[in-house]
Amino acid sequence: MINLERKRIQKHFDVKAQSYESSAVLQKEVCNRMLERLSWVKIRPEIILDAGAGTGWGTRGLMDYYKSSKVIAMDLSLSMLQQARRKGGVFRKPGLLCADAERLPFADSSVDMVFSNLMLQWCDPKKTFKEFLRILKPGGLLMFSTFGPDTLKELRHSWSVVDDAKHVNEFIDMHDLGDDLMSSGFAEPVMDMDMMTLTYDDVMTVMTDLKAIGANTPMKDNMRGLLTPGKLKQVIAQYETFRNENYLPASFEIVYGHAWKVDKKNRQVSGEIKIPVKDIGAIKK
Ligand SMILES: C[S@@+](CC[C@H](N)C(=O)[O-])C[C@H]1O[C@@H](n2cnc3c(N)ncnc32)[C@H](O)[C@@H]1O
Repeated sequence: MINLERKRIQKHFDVKAQSYESSAVLQKEVCNRMLERLSWVKIRPEIILDAGAGTGWGTRGLMDYYKSSKVIAMDLSLSMLQQARRKGGVFRKPGLLCADAERLPFADSSVDMVFSNLMLQWCDPKKTFKEFLRILKPGGLLMFSTFGPDTLKELRHSWSVVDDAKHVNEFIDMHDLGDDLMSSGFAEPVMDMDMMTLTYDDVMTVMTDLKAIGANTPMKDNMRGLLTPGKLKQVIAQYETFRNENYLPASFEIVYGHAWKVDKKNRQVSGEIKIPVKDIGAIKK
């Protein structure tokens, strides 16, 4: 049975599905950076799962890169998948699956690669990693991106001056995600991060985007800090202190990770990752 939090997320994306692609500037940029990383990996996956595929931006990129692989777009939101259905050429369509990443309707060891762009922040990472590990074949690869703790730091700071409630979600540090990968059973996790800054005209638009990326806290977490007009005015005034020329900056820490399911028979990971020197940032292995 689907729980209330899942229903909230599903409804949120069902409503956004039509307009998602035109407003998902950050999501598309991060997805493109993930797709560029495919060239680091020397594997020939037969079956690829795009987990939290949304409208299928990544799905299409995967189909373009891996011409003979079967790519399955999986998402909690049926409306997002209906947009994804249009991706791919006339002769080649992605598989479509409406499911929860924490409980995937796949047999054990049935998928060669899991790709997931900016979905993990909506899930319990430990449960999700375990599920990814279960469905991956030995030697299979997980590649994902998510948000790190410095995401929306300007907004978090502005709220902290006004009250003690949690208004912006805490995102998990990449080192902790690396540890979660290891404790879930993945091998050779490599984590790195990028900082990206978007510019906004006003604070209210930053707050709207906070919902779009899954950074707003559940109701029970911000009950103590219910939004009143007075508080909103204070937050806006605080945030305005970050204004740079004509724009308000909003920082996004993008965390990237990949890891392998060990092939126990051969006691090794079967693929190889070659990271170009220019792309090495803050990498933890
Ligand atoms: C920010 S969007 C990213 C979509 C796509 N990967 C992209 O790059 O544009 C996050 C997606 O994750 C999906 N999602 C959230 N929680 C999920 C879950 N537990 N299982 C499957 N999909 C989920 C949402 O429905 C949404 O489509």
